[in-house]
Amino acid sequence: MNKIKILIADNRRDTRELIKTYLSKDRTIKVIGEAENGKRALELSLQLKPDILLIYYNMIEMDSFEVIEKVTSESDHTIVIMTSEKEDVHLIKKAMVHGAKEYIKTPFVQETLIDTIRTVYEKEFIKKEKYNQVDLERTKNTKCKIISVFSTKGGVGKSTIAINTALKLHKEINKKVAVIDLDLQFGDILLMVDKEPVTSIVDFINQSDEYTLDNLKLFMQDFQGISILSSPVSPELAEYITEEHIKEIIDLLKQAYDYIIIDNPNSFDEVTLTALDVSDTILFVTTMDIVSIKNVKVGLGIMKSLGYTDEKVNLVINKANEKFGIKLKDIYSIFDRPVGQVIVEDIKTVVTSINKGTPFVLSSGRNKISKCITKLAKQLTG
Ligand SMILES: Nc1ncnc2c1ncn2[C@@H]1O[C@H](COP(=O)(O)OP(=O)(O)O)[C@@H](O)[C@H]1O
Ligand SMILES: [Mg+2]
Repeated sequence: MNKIKILIADNRRDTRELIKTYLSKDRTIKVIGEAENGKRALELSLQLKPDILLIYYNMIEMDSFEVIEKVTSESDHTIVIMTSEKEDVHLIKKAMVHGAKEYIKTPFVQETLIDTIRTVYEKEFIKKEKYNQVDLERTKNTKCKIISVFSTKGGVGKSTIAINTALKLHKEINKKVAVIDLDLQFGDILLMVDKEPVTSIVDFINQSDEYTLDNLKLFMQDFQGISILSSPVSPELAEYITEEHIKEIIDLLKQAYDYIIIDNPNSFDEVTLTALDVSDTILFVTTMDIVSIKNVKVGLGIMKSLGYTDEKVNLVINKANEKFGIKLKDIYSIFDRPVGQVIVEDIKTVVTSINKGTPFVLSSGRNKISKCITKLAKQLTG
């Protein structure tokens, strides 16, 4: 096995020496350089391309967070672990947002130091390998587009957007569309189309003799020409579903559909991460309130550290209404990036459609909100 190559960045010489002594005890780890200030840490990271940059949070000459940001954005190889004597949640969050993957509290405990390095390394490199593999598979089928609807907060309108966009893509743009309700604990896509959850994703996993497209279709429900794979009836069944299952299901659906729309839960659990990884586009939904905006900002940082490009992550502002103190232009400047789509607030249309079990693009096709969905669907096909 290749050794894990480490670059140590710490202003204090004795700390660097201590880390080197600790790491020298492990034969799978090799220190390939050390930096005594932030500027040097950045230079050496770009030059030596270490597997791991272990950086003190308070570097001199160049701010540590700036170093982390630059290293992680310029190279998708180096993983950053930040060290600090403080155990401060804000500090940890800040490090993660800037691209660090892990955090080690000092004074160092030799075992913890080595264990953390190994665990982070293995996890990240396995993930990257998986990602590359998926990338390869995807190029085999460039026809099918996978769209994930995601947010870091519930109730922002993910499911509403997922089902209405799916219907638009099918009815107006004539695409073959499958919807996966991946909100495994609280999925409500079927409820939105007034259908009983007769069979779910868990039934397919447990009952199918063989994982084939034909078998999978037996467990999906048709609604107005789109196929829906429902979430389980009981939340506790969610634990049956693994990352491998999701990959397998998506690979099967890719053979038959032009679009796979995935309605995700509001968390970065492993199953969701797999879905986000394999997606071509993520519709990251926010509403115009401070809590949602703050969570999206943190979420965008996490996505960046996962290596998702700005093209892949599309911001969608839902329930847009400027009456409550925040203007759209404020949001644009907070995120400092383009917003993919704005969907207006229309409580009457949306709530009526959900209560009736008829998505509004079918019943209120001329309303402004339906037009917003049309634009979104067109953007996805463009
Ligand atoms: N554009 C909108 N205007 C008004 N209400 C909306 C809009 N989008 C969603 N809602 C409402 O927000 C609530 C949550 O929507 P839902 O799609 O279930 O969110 P999520 O899947 O993100 O939890 C629903 O009651 C729905 O009626
Ligand atoms: Mg939902």
